[in-house]
Amino acid sequence: MTDELIESILNESRSFAPSKKFIKQANLNKEEAERLKEEASRNHIEYWAKLAKDELDWFLPFKNILDESKAPNYEWFNDGEINASFNSLDVNASNNPEKTAIIFEAEDGKSERITYKELLSRTSQFANGLKKLGVVQMDRVVIYMPMCPEAVIAMQACARIGAIHSVVFGGFSSNALKDRIEDAEAKIVITADGAYRSGNIVPLKQATDEAVAQSSHEVKNVVVFKRTGEKVEFNQERDIWWADLISGCDSHCDPEPLNAEHPLFILYTSGSTGKPKGIQHSTAGYILHAKTTFSWIFDIKKDDVFWCTADVGWITGHTYVAYGPLLAGATILIYEGAPTFPDVGRFWKICEKHAVTIFYTAPTAIRALMKHGDEIPQSYDLSELRLLGTVGEPINPEAWMWYHNIIGKERCPIVDTWWQTETGGAMISPLPGVTNTKPGSCTMPMPGIDVDIVDESGESVEAPNQGGYLVIKKPWPSMLRTIWGDNQRYIETYWDKFDGRYYVAGDSAYKDTDGCHWIMGRIDDVLNVSGHRLGTMEVESALVSNEKVAEAAVVGKPHDVKGESIFAFVVTKGNRPTGEDAKKMQQGLREWVNEQVGAIAKPDEIRFSDNLPKTRSGKIMRRLLRAIAREEAITQDISTLEDESIIKQLQGKE
Ligand code: WT7
Repeated sequence: MTDELIESILNESRSFAPSKKFIKQANLNKEEAERLKEEASRNHIEYWAKLAKDELDWFLPFKNILDESKAPNYEWFNDGEINASFNSLDVNASNNPEKTAIIFEAEDGKSERITYKELLSRTSQFANGLKKLGVVQMDRVVIYMPMCPEAVIAMQACARIGAIHSVVFGGFSSNALKDRIEDAEAKIVITADGAYRSGNIVPLKQATDEAVAQSSHEVKNVVVFKRTGEKVEFNQERDIWWADLISGCDSHCDPEPLNAEHPLFILYTSGSTGKPKGIQHSTAGYILHAKTTFSWIFDIKKDDVFWCTADVGWITGHTYVAYGPLLAGATILIYEGAPTFPDVGRFWKICEKHAVTIFYTAPTAIRALMKHGDEIPQSYDLSELRLLGTVGEPINPEAWMWYHNIIGKERCPIVDTWWQTETGGAMISPLPGVTNTKPGSCTMPMPGIDVDIVDESGESVEAPNQGGYLVIKKPWPSMLRTIWGDNQRYIETYWDKFDGRYYVAGDSAYKDTDGCHWIMGRIDDVLNVSGHRLGTMEVESALVSNEKVAEAAVVGKPHDVKGESIFAFVVTKGNRPTGEDAKKMQQGLREWVNEQVGAIAKPDEIRFSDNLPKTRSGKIMRRLLRAIAREEAITQDISTLEDESIIKQLQGKE
């Protein structure tokens, strides 16, 4: 037996039960969780209908539950009317107006608290500002903002008036922003004069100006929030300061009653082509799953301070910052800056300062902080923490144990939540008062979520520890509705594999003997770099758009902090660069990719060769490249290679 195999067997059998104390106070106990699962399996439709009635406030109650007539474009509750912002803000401002909705921690250490009442009035006022600019239902509004309360206010304001937001992560380049503006045909862009990051200012307004100038679609207005006071270019006809826009606007704005299926937002994510997909979500179904999974998985109580470290530019920041917690009337913490600023203790310092009780982050962040040793977290008071979470990639057992011992002091359950931009909310996760957790496993599906692992022919894999395709067998309310502007791609990507029978997640996974789920990784050419999804094709197309590059192939390579790192093989036009020339070119290309996509897409390694390995039919031998990047022995048949001598070059030995 190999060490790896022994380790994996040990992992599977090592399990952690929630403490008696935790079980006693948990929102969901074993009986309730079993009842929910039983109700869902007995009558899937009724199960969701009951939740939707109990958990959401409707302007017009629905009669239809699930409409399958346009499958796989499923619709839920589609004769009901509702508003996401009303359910988040008005409901809680009326129940508990003085409760803190948002604690904002700026990078410089200043903090601010916003109550539900204030959040409602600030959102309403900004919504009136958007109306003044002529924004109406179905208009697309791009939000390219720092991580600050105004980003959430902008999202909630769009939801209030039925505009569709498309948040673009502030770390993306102007070029990536331009692509997203064009694809969504955005009427308005909301940005800031800058964002603070590691003590520097990220010039968001400048990037917006470039993107808008280059966009083939004309943006009507750019709203600029003053965050840094840095001097920025200002186009008097097009640009307007946030403060000027809302000045004179009423702080009351009636929420629009919207159809349950009204698109709440578009969020772009990477796929197996060079072009990101605009994942489109609905209103009612999305907020239903966001709210219920938030309360169940994070066991939220009235005095909790919940901190999800994700930026609102990702789905995690949508579901578990801007919507789920506010729908549940919780107090959230928003942190503006870098995890390592001014030093690597910043996360723990924030937990201490604001008495954070529930902390949710990515394995990559845990690994990065773990590297700096135990003394740093041990020098802060983390005694308020009672529950920890992870998301975005598989967590290695070593990082899980560190999180459990050093951060959670063996007292806090860890919820490892598996989900995707497409699923809208968590799908497989422990329930902290119910499920025994295992380091590295996301454990069991949520009530009402019908997960399975199937083989190539779509049959369930019954045997334990056997890998297969992770699929969802029944539609669920928060599922994506389509890909913006490309329904064909929606059908091909998620449904064609098994003739429309199941939603295909794109991950492979297996179940162990206890029925716990273990995610093995993507089955397509998608990388997971620091918990962020990135298409190899996206990086390749960025590389080949450089005038010096003839061809490029990008593969992933395991990385101890990032999970995966990006390895690019590049064929240049003209002679293959070597020595100093190669170094310069590597640097230039990394910067180029940064400009084309953003810092997260910068290749960690670039290797030049005269050719890429191709089969006689011209296909790039990716598995071979992957083995070379990982310095593994080559087991592939290379006899079909056109030119065997390039292997040494690819290995960097020549
Ligand atoms: C992909 C989705 C869900 C928000 C963040 C990422 C991987 C996600 C886990 C987990 C193992 C995970 C999957 C998935 N993934 N969570 N707990 N364990 N893998 O959202 O960018 O849409 O990426 O992230 O591969 O398909 P995303």
